[in-house]
Amino acid sequence: MKILLFGRGGQVGWELQRSLSVLGEVVALDFDATQNPHNLCGSFTDLAGLASTVQAIKPDVIVNAAAHTAVDKAESEPDLARSLNALAPGVLATEATKLGAWLVHYSTDYVFDGSGTAPWKETDATGPLSVYGQTKLEGEQAVASTPKHLILRTSWVYAARGGNFAKTMLRLASERETLTVIDDQFGAPTSAELLADVTAHSIRAAIANPSLAGLYHCVAAGETSWHGYARFVLETAQALGTPLKAGPAQVSPTSTASYPTPAQRPLNSRLDTSKLQKAFGLTLPHWQTGVSRMLTEISGK
Ligand SMILES: NC(=O)c1ccc[n+]([C@@H]2O[C@H](COP(=O)([O-])OP(=O)(O)OC[C@H]3O[C@@H](n4cnc5c(N)ncnc54)[C@H](OP(=O)(O)O)[C@@H]3O)[C@@H](O)[C@H]2O)c1
Repeated sequence: MKILLFGRGGQVGWELQRSLSVLGEVVALDFDATQNPHNLCGSFTDLAGLASTVQAIKPDVIVNAAAHTAVDKAESEPDLARSLNALAPGVLATEATKLGAWLVHYSTDYVFDGSGTAPWKETDATGPLSVYGQTKLEGEQAVASTPKHLILRTSWVYAARGGNFAKTMLRLASERETLTVIDDQFGAPTSAELLADVTAHSIRAAIANPSLAGLYHCVAAGETSWHGYARFVLETAQALGTPLKAGPAQVSPTSTASYPTPAQRPLNSRLDTSKLQKAFGLTLPHWQTGVSRMLTEISGK
C-alpha cells in the first residue's frame, strides 16, 4: 500500500510518520518542496502543484495533516486559511476520487457554536464562530465529496514535538509567579500520538469495510477546562521535579468574556466519541494518561 502524507512536520503529521509506517510505503511531504523527494509540491497554496503531486505518486491512501491552525491569525488572513483548510482539501478530494483512493482528514470542535453542555455528536448542527472554524467546516464538506473518506474531528491537540497549550503553560510557569487561565471552555486535550494511532487502525478497518467511510469524533476520554488542564500540567511537572515559579495553586481562573481574543472560541467543545469507538472497536484513553506521558517524555525522566 502507498500512503501520501501531507503536513509531515506538524504535531499530528510527525506522529503519523510513525504510525502509518507499518501499513505500507509512506511518502511524507513538507510544505517546502526543496525538503521533499523529487521536489514534490506539498504546499497548500499551490493547488495545481498539489494535484500534480497526487497524480505523480498515485497513492492508495492520502492523509492530510496540514492545515492553517493559528486560530486568532486566521481572522486577519481568511483567504490563506480558506486555501489551506478548504480549497486544498477539496483538490485532494477531487484527485482521490479520480484514483479511487482513500482520503483521511482532520477537523475540529471549532465547527460548533459551543452552546449547551452535552457532548456534540456527528449529526449535530454546526455553527462555527471563527474563520478557522468556518474554513475547517468547508474543508470537511469538500473532503466528504469523495466517497472513500475518513474525517476525524478532534480538539485541544498536543504533542511532545511542536507548540501547544501544555508547553506554553510550562514555559509561563517557569517565568512567572502566577498565571490566569480560562475556566469556562470545556473539552478534552488529545494527543497527536492517539490521533495517529487511531488513524492507522481506522485506515485498515475502512479498507476492509468501505462502509465505514464517514465523519467521526476522536478525542481522549474525560473532560476539563483550560484552567483544569493547566493545573494538571503544573502538578504533574512538579511531581516530575521540573522547577517552576508558579505551581498549580497559583493558577487563577478567569472567564472567556474577560479575556478577549481576535477569534471567538466555543465554550462547549465536548465531543461524543461513541460512533468512532463502536464502528472501529476502539477504546479512547483518559486525557490525563496522554498528558502525563507527554510531560514525562519532555522532562527526560
Ligand atoms: N492543534 C489543535 O489544537 C487542533 C485542534 C483540533 C483540530 N486540529 C486539526 O488537526 C490537524 C493537525 O493539527 P496539528 O495540531 O498537527 O497542526 P500543526 O502542528 O499546526 O501542523 C500543521 C501542519 O500544516 C503545515 N502547513 C502550514 N502551512 C502550510 C502550507 N501553506 N502548505 C502546506 N502545509 C502547511 C505545517 O507546516 P510547518 O510545520 O512547516 O509550518 C504543519 O506541518 C489539523 O487539521 C487541525 O485543524 C488541531
